[in-house]
Amino acid sequence: MPKKKKSTADQPAKTSLQSSPHLLRGFKDILPKEQKYWNHLERVVEKIAFQYGYKRIETPILEETSLFVRSVGKETDIVSKEMFSFVDKGGENVCLRPEITASVVRAYIEHGMHTYPQPVRVYYSGPVFRREKPQSGRLRGFHQFGFEVLGNDRPVVDAQLILIARNICLEAGLRLQDFVIQVNSIGDLASREEYLHELSSYFKSKKKYLSPEERKRITKNPMRLLDSVMRDRKDIFDDAPQILDWLNDESKNHFMEVLEILDALEISYVLNPYLVRGLDYYTRTVFEIYPAGKEEFSQSAIGAGGRYDGLIELLGGDPTPAGGFAFGYERFIALLKDREVKIRERKPPQVYLAQIGKQAKIQALKLFEKLRKEGFAVYENFSKDSLKSQLEQADKLEVRYTIIIGQKEVLDGTVLVRDMESGVQEIVNYEKVTDEIRRKLAVK
Ligand code: HAM
Repeated sequence: MPKKKKSTADQPAKTSLQSSPHLLRGFKDILPKEQKYWNHLERVVEKIAFQYGYKRIETPILEETSLFVRSVGKETDIVSKEMFSFVDKGGENVCLRPEITASVVRAYIEHGMHTYPQPVRVYYSGPVFRREKPQSGRLRGFHQFGFEVLGNDRPVVDAQLILIARNICLEAGLRLQDFVIQVNSIGDLASREEYLHELSSYFKSKKKYLSPEERKRITKNPMRLLDSVMRDRKDIFDDAPQILDWLNDESKNHFMEVLEILDALEISYVLNPYLVRGLDYYTRTVFEIYPAGKEEFSQSAIGAGGRYDGLIELLGGDPTPAGGFAFGYERFIALLKDREVKIRERKPPQVYLAQIGKQAKIQALKLFEKLRKEGFAVYENFSKDSLKSQLEQADKLEVRYTIIIGQKEVLDGTVLVRDMESGVQEIVNYEKVTDEIRRKLAVK
């Protein structure tokens, strides 16, 4: 490794003021070479949303902090440790959204969407922020897309959400064997009360295996505890009470119907009785989607969701059942790469436009506009005069045809079309060049 230069009298060491700005920890730039995955996934999301009748919604990245404290829950990791929240200059407590469901619910209430035909189906896509400890699969700035359906409590809605989530995975190019859908029901609030009591007693009896931080959760939020310790220390906690045994008849029947529909549609799933989710607003059906073989690691889930029947009322709306799910783009794309999913890029016809001489440059600028309007992607370097260097650039860009315009071609009303593979050049009438290149690309 090169040694760091020490400061000398005439060469001071770089101070932090002089050093270049750098990316914040846990954040990522999405460079041009990555964009094909993002475009692909965005196209899949839009297509599926259209097919299932979901309309796009955009909500602001900055929201009142209290929105997430009340919905996601004060005792959750997200709210207690991971919010980018601050008091702005006007004295308002605001935060960068750590998820989007709560914002959708706020918008549903604020815009009186309960008066729309129910259920209201919306989808979204955008950045989210959680001040997590950065590690593989855990970013501080990441992106989600999600689907929410508000205003219906029937089990068919839950099953259809799971079906849509599965179809997004398939449409994106994953195979059924690439991912696993885990499902569970955490019941309604009534069935959960007794269960939470039972769970607290259980963890009290296992106190010696818990860290001081975990012990605090025994009474505050034992379900979260279940989620974290069951994954890592199954051997110690595998006799923990299961919520499914405490569901009241209504919750049980609801869940049974969801599973019956999934079975009838031949959607494979794994019933995980300890799946509880890390956000407080969930009721009844919950689910998570994992890369196959990585179900043990919570930071590998590519998507997750469930019902949140109490959330709209909790945030000041009329009692309205709802459910949804969200996927993380970064984790989804990592899985597409891991499974070597081929992304078909929809590229417009491409051509390089080279010119030699002042007059030719003007003609080339005009031809650029003609090509652009006719749907071509045109590469050029109008600031270069040497044909050799323009052809070298065309070669690097791997375009099949280069259009060359020189003084003679301007006078003749023609252009040269060069096949970059064979090096053969052909004279083509200026007016006919777009048709000619289109024809050549089609027979290629
Ligand atoms: P979530 O499980 O917190 O649920 O996040 C959903 C997805 O976002 C995860 O499955 C994961 O792919 C991605 N994700 C979460 N945290 C990170 C991170 N730190 N770095 C990278 N990716 C991450 C929700 O956010 C709920 N709003 C989902 C929902 C919608 N439930 C009902 N409707």
